[in-house]
Amino acid sequence: MSDRTLHLAAFAAAGPVSGNHGGWRYPGADLDLLSAGYYRKLGRKLEAARFDLLFIADILAIPTRLENSLDSQLRYGALGALRLEPLSVLSLIAGHTEHLGLAATISTTYFEPYDVARSLATLDHLSGGRAAWNIVTSFQHAEARNFGREDHISHDERYDRADEFLEVACKLWNSWEDGALVRDAAAPLFADPSKVRPIDHRGRWFQVEGPLNVSRPPQGRPVFVQAGASSRGKDFAARWTDVIFVTHASLESAQAFYREMKQRAAAQGRDPDGLKILPGIAPLTGETGEIARAKDALLTDLADAKAGLSTLAYHLDIDLSRFPQDTPLPEIEQPGIHGHYKEVAELTRKHGMSLAQIGKQYAIKTNRDFIGGYKEVADRIEQWFTQSACDGFMIQIPYLFGGLDDFANLVVPELQRRGLFRTDYEGTTLRDRLGLPRP
Ligand SMILES: Cc1cc2nc3c(=O)[nH]c(=O)nc-3n(C[C@H](O)[C@H](O)[C@H](O)COP(=O)(O)O)c2cc1C
Repeated sequence: MSDRTLHLAAFAAAGPVSGNHGGWRYPGADLDLLSAGYYRKLGRKLEAARFDLLFIADILAIPTRLENSLDSQLRYGALGALRLEPLSVLSLIAGHTEHLGLAATISTTYFEPYDVARSLATLDHLSGGRAAWNIVTSFQHAEARNFGREDHISHDERYDRADEFLEVACKLWNSWEDGALVRDAAAPLFADPSKVRPIDHRGRWFQVEGPLNVSRPPQGRPVFVQAGASSRGKDFAARWTDVIFVTHASLESAQAFYREMKQRAAAQGRDPDGLKILPGIAPLTGETGEIARAKDALLTDLADAKAGLSTLAYHLDIDLSRFPQDTPLPEIEQPGIHGHYKEVAELTRKHGMSLAQIGKQYAIKTNRDFIGGYKEVADRIEQWFTQSACDGFMIQIPYLFGGLDDFANLVVPELQRRGLFRTDYEGTTLRDRLGLPRP
């Protein structure tokens, strides 16, 4: 093993697309995505490949950003077309795995801290300390309209609310001291009342008395994951987050982001190594480069440009059909997701792409550096890891389950041969795997 261990997370949406909009149409792709068996298989395969964690993305609406219509998302099975609720899916997977970390995306804008702290504490207990939370502030108008609002609250207010949300959630997880749950039948002392206290939180956004009605989770609190890349998003990540997974169009922008975030963490008085940065990539591989490129050609053919444009419109929170399709990406002051905007803007600048071309590119994934024979993919992973661009990766699987099998059976053993990746799990909790202390 090298002195640093590479971390691998798998990015999935409990819906049609995880890495490539052509993926669900790929020959042999499993479309049984409403079944328990599908997620059991996903969890077990990732665990057999020794992944650190499975991450499930989410949105609380079907996006209508393109042409103010559901059509493009539903017809093309785009990223937001269908999403099962992540905590339910992960609870199911928890029952069929023993080591895999389980990250649920949950919004701080549309939920309440008591609910979320309770659900995640439950998942952490039931999984033996494997729960993680992808903290999102939500950015879609369609989501606001599902929660009784005409429009969503402003970007910075969403982060204000998120900060207070996290303060309350942490107080709730700490409202039971470790050891408060005694379960002494003879005494009797089920739980020690002197070790369980209300939190009496009174803030701008939340009034919560507490305590939580679930004892302190095995990890103290779940692992915090986040992907905001605006200035507020980065402040939030430097303050709270254990894992960041913003996507990048090039090695250089990944390196710049890595440097900046480690510095920001240090400026908050944190150990920079306690913040793991796992950029999202979509590797596509095979025994040889030729085989990988043939798969890529087929996937590219199956991914509709309109599906990509629809997802990009949703990610940037702007109706891209309003602009002539042969012009470049418009300047956007407040995009829905800053990380994706920066990525696409970099690509547009470099290659002078039109909106129509960007749609196609977004449908198949913008960063094309990780397509090739398994040794080439492992080379590129090693390069990013050793050249200070990341602590590991969030792998976006191009199609299920073939794309996962290729990565697990070819790239993972190659990374293990190189001493970059674990051959077995060590420790018991997700925090142990990620090398993070228990708070
Ligand atoms: C790779 C990536 C994946 C994301 N996944 C989700 C998601 O599943 N659900 C969601 O609501 N937001 C998601 N986001 C949005 C962010 O977490 C964040 O809330 C949003 O980018 C707004 O923050 P910002 O203005 O700092 O970028 C994702 C962002 C990135 C870069």
